[in-house]
Amino acid sequence: MPDIESLLTEKRTFKPDPAFVKQANWNRRKAAELRELGEKHPKRFWAKMAKENVTWFSPWKKVLDWKPPFAKWFVGAKTNVSYNCLDRHLDGPRRNKAAIIWEGEPGDVRTLTFAQLHREVCKFANVLKSQGVKKGDRVALYMPMIPELAIAMLACTRIGAPHNIVFGGFSAEALRDRIEDAGAVAVVTADAGWRRGKPLPLKDAVDNAIEGVESVRSVVVVKRCGPEVPMRAGRDHWWHELMADASAKCPPAKLDAEHPLFILYTSGTTGKPKGILHTTGGYLTHVTTTAKAIFDLKDEDVYWCTADIGWITGHSYVVYGILANGTTSLMYEGAPTTPGPDRFWDIIERHGVSIFYTAPTAIRTFIRLGDEHPKSHDLTSLRLLGTVGEPINPEAWMWYHRVIGGKRCPIVDTWWQTETGGIMITPLPGAVDTKPGSATLTFPGVKAAILSEEGNVVKPPNGGLLAIQQPWPGMLRGIWGDPKRYRETYWSKWKNPKDTYFAGDGAHKDKQGYFWIMGRVDDVMNVSGHRIGTMEVESALVSHAKVAEAAVVGRPDEITGTAIVAFVTPIGGTEAGDTLVAELRRQVTKEIGAMAKPADIRFTDALPKTRSGKIMRRLLRDIASGKETAGDTSTLEDLSVLAKLRESDEG
Ligand code: WTA
Repeated sequence: MPDIESLLTEKRTFKPDPAFVKQANWNRRKAAELRELGEKHPKRFWAKMAKENVTWFSPWKKVLDWKPPFAKWFVGAKTNVSYNCLDRHLDGPRRNKAAIIWEGEPGDVRTLTFAQLHREVCKFANVLKSQGVKKGDRVALYMPMIPELAIAMLACTRIGAPHNIVFGGFSAEALRDRIEDAGAVAVVTADAGWRRGKPLPLKDAVDNAIEGVESVRSVVVVKRCGPEVPMRAGRDHWWHELMADASAKCPPAKLDAEHPLFILYTSGTTGKPKGILHTTGGYLTHVTTTAKAIFDLKDEDVYWCTADIGWITGHSYVVYGILANGTTSLMYEGAPTTPGPDRFWDIIERHGVSIFYTAPTAIRTFIRLGDEHPKSHDLTSLRLLGTVGEPINPEAWMWYHRVIGGKRCPIVDTWWQTETGGIMITPLPGAVDTKPGSATLTFPGVKAAILSEEGNVVKPPNGGLLAIQQPWPGMLRGIWGDPKRYRETYWSKWKNPKDTYFAGDGAHKDKQGYFWIMGRVDDVMNVSGHRIGTMEVESALVSHAKVAEAAVVGRPDEITGTAIVAFVTPIGGTEAGDTLVAELRRQVTKEIGAMAKPADIRFTDALPKTRSGKIMRRLLRDIASGKETAGDTSTLEDLSVLAKLRESDEG
């Protein structure tokens, strides 16, 4: 793991600014107390957080029921997520405060106060009921970043119908897989969403995706961009028409703490994405507590997380964790560089954003675009910055600190996953010194370690596998419909110590106990913070008639972190050239989505394999990243010679 060496040279440490510490929700003393409680009595710690940060309709009988690998948190308690995000803010001064400030890509702005959002959510909950959606039914949401997406989510949770959000960048094929696997009964979508000045069609994809899918009875369509879309009578309905007649009264369902809240699909090491299941009470406790402590949320903040709600970051920290704290959440529909490279900084200035949470890929893109763009805007409203989704290189961290944060804003580098539900490793901005490139320490109540393949604790500063050693409230409750895969993927890496969660990331700890995340160690690539399975791209490629075999690996990329490289063996007699490259890239776009398009496609007579027939991925990774040359890279190459040289090496 060669990355370790370079990271170890990072010696810079930043202490929290005294002015920040003074006003922090969790200062050093409070953080130390809670950390100690979390270490000695994790269940007591989380129960305390659950009482302080969540409103319950009835209390739990037991904090945790842990029958590894199946956990139940706050057993027997009842609550409702939409009640916590909305109703409980209506009796005080938050009632008429902005819950969502939304900006569309063309520049249109809408503000919804907590009272207004509550009204819309109640109405849409009644719309869902009118469409026959019942408690426990799954609803697929395939939408642009518009307020109706947040409204639909909250409406689902209000009536106890788990949502299954599919990022708008996924293709019709990918959408169909997710709708089918979840058995969704309804789909909420839009005609299109704005992206780089053009409408990105969504309803078309839905039509293709649900053709012949029996579970789907109803499609609700938001009119966003205005293009003509075919509406099938009896099945398709306009959002605005249904809402016009809907009552604004809808009491929140009193749901069991373990009632399913949502399913979110994520890539794994096989071709089939996993439906990660999250439930109500534990997830809400985890995201509300972490948001308050890590983002230091205050009533006067305007908080902006740039993630699309289609990913876990948007679920937990655009919507649920933020609104549950009564904080104003800014939502932006479009591309970061439309109409110009300063769009983000312009938004921050105009809306007075005080907390900004984004991905390292975005930061690296902005560095390349030039300092003049942020410098031409007043960014002094910012008081805290965050990053998520990928390892951040120290130089990008320093730029973020200097150019965006004006050297006064703490940076929280937050490590977590779709599976963890909420943030797990992170600085507490008023209490933990930061080091550029390190996610620092576990959140109180979370226990993590670096283990070897054999399960031994790896001594600092050596690299190993990141493991979570005890259950936490926001943890996934399983893979939808596949308990066996759940156990095998996450809980079977080590026999000893058993019942330990395998995150799929490599990491190391320094002598001070700080965590440094090094990236995925399985066959999952992290491209611009989006998880894409090598197997998914491979199966998209081999579904093309001219492809005999394909292997996909990641190579390091300065901007996107990882870039996708495909090695393809065409069927005999096929001309391997630019035309085929273009066709294959279209194929991947069709099967998965544009974000999974390989950056490089290289043709080879045969894929390098071990004698037992395993593809030699490490060799391919070395070739892809230029560590090992294979002659002319643009033409057919025979990798079997290299394979022979390396065979003993790969095993
Ligand atoms: C990576 C996103 C380094 C990691 C919330 C993880 C990170 C995967 C960080 C999960 C970070 C996330 N530093 N790497 N601060 N945060 N990752 O499920 O590889 O989309 O396993 O969840 O992103 O991606 P996911």
